[in-house]
Amino acid sequence: MANTASLKIDDKEFPLSVMIGTEGEKAIDVRKLRADSGYLCYDQGYGNTGSCESALTYLDGDAGILRFRGYPIEQLALHSNFIETAYLVIYGELPNAEKRKEFGLNLRQHAAIETQMQKIFEGYPKDAPPMAMLASIVASLAAHYPHLATNDFSKDLASFDLATAMAMSKIRTIGAMLYRYMNGKPYIAPKQDLPFCENFLHMMFSEAHQDYVSVPEVARALNLLLLLHADHEQNCSTATVRMVGSSSANLFTSISAGIGALSGPLHGGANVAVMQMLQNIHDDGDDGSRFIAAAKSGSKSNRLMGFGHAVYRNFDPRAKIIGQACEDLLKKLGVNDPLLDIAKRLNETALKDEYFISRKLYPNVDFYSGIIMRALGIPVSMFTVIFAIGRTPGWIANWREVAANPKGRIYRPRQIYVGPTVRDFVPMEKRT
Ligand code: SDX
Repeated sequence: MANTASLKIDDKEFPLSVMIGTEGEKAIDVRKLRADSGYLCYDQGYGNTGSCESALTYLDGDAGILRFRGYPIEQLALHSNFIETAYLVIYGELPNAEKRKEFGLNLRQHAAIETQMQKIFEGYPKDAPPMAMLASIVASLAAHYPHLATNDFSKDLASFDLATAMAMSKIRTIGAMLYRYMNGKPYIAPKQDLPFCENFLHMMFSEAHQDYVSVPEVARALNLLLLLHADHEQNCSTATVRMVGSSSANLFTSISAGIGALSGPLHGGANVAVMQMLQNIHDDGDDGSRFIAAAKSGSKSNRLMGFGHAVYRNFDPRAKIIGQACEDLLKKLGVNDPLLDIAKRLNETALKDEYFISRKLYPNVDFYSGIIMRALGIPVSMFTVIFAIGRTPGWIANWREVAANPKGRIYRPRQIYVGPTVRDFVPMEKRT
């Protein structure tokens, strides 16, 4: 395999070194190209650009492979759980019993949101978009914990561990509090003796005098959903967290920026768009064929939401796992959701249709996740908040790779300028 490349421009050759990752991914190192040749590289949306070296997640979109720190997602889904996988993503190894206990205790100790911080919720209309509230309340963690709003954790790991536990645990609690606030219900305090997911369900659905009784299948399904969302290479929101963290911004502020990116319907907001799509098909009495025909028009407003992916040109392995878990859960709960039948029909039809086959469009993580969340009793408005809670370990791990990189530099992409060339100022009286 070549470890050098060369670029010929006019009659000049520019030698470039080649980087090869541990899974054989190859990249041409163009860091010196502009200085040597005067040429930039152009890659709108960075779809063919490696912005960093990372040891967290390996993803092969053509083969439909996803691994966290080398462990296949299928094995983690079968044998692990969200908190253990979060530890793996953040710290690089599966925790032994002692480290797992310590991590869990840290999360439980920092589950509550202080009374002063609870006042922030009152500043929002009850029908405000939950992701807008989540982004700003998470950003305020930097104001409430200024001693942790620093980025030199690469040296001070004890503070990093504390900031990590607070970010994971409090973002989960803020999510539950948003649900309560939007529904005009009093907040339910976290319980120290409840595991992460059970505590979330308790804070969402318990009432003042009646604790929510968590059905094991429900907590397990939520656990699996969060695990599958834990990280996903340099997706839009994670790349945003790295971008903001590269300016030495603190963890909470960087995560808040990632939440903003995740809220977009082309990214984390897709699970909400999938449910709206399925509900519209159901309400129109369409068996899905009319919708599929419209989705093939190519217009962005008619897309088959939950299908296609910026990287996967094969099945998103998470979609397969969630699809099966969805069927199992609905069967166990005795729920017969017509939207699942519609989703399965759309899936079967699209996978046989030349339009989708030729464009390598397959179901992604969002295609079934909404149906499983609905079965858990989680409202559509909270779907992307759940995605954010699941993605927090990946954001933390990526932020730490940036903060701890001694050779790191601030992200500062260049551009190709296509605006007006130089011109003189025109005084008001001479303007048309
Ligand atoms: C997530 O990056 C990540 O890792 C993200 C994520 C994560 O875990 O962080 O995996 C989470 O964001 C999953 C993706 C959720 N988004 C959706 O489900 C929205 C629907 N999908 C599409 O909008 C689209 O597929 C994207 C945005 C996901 C990917 O877009 P691309 O790769 O830029 O594809 P494209 O827009 O260039 O489309 C290529 C062709 C076009 O047709 P032609 O111009 O070639 O004729 O495919 C068509 C598109 O019109 N197309 C679709 C389609 N997606 C692409 N046609 C119908 N329905 C779709 N869903």
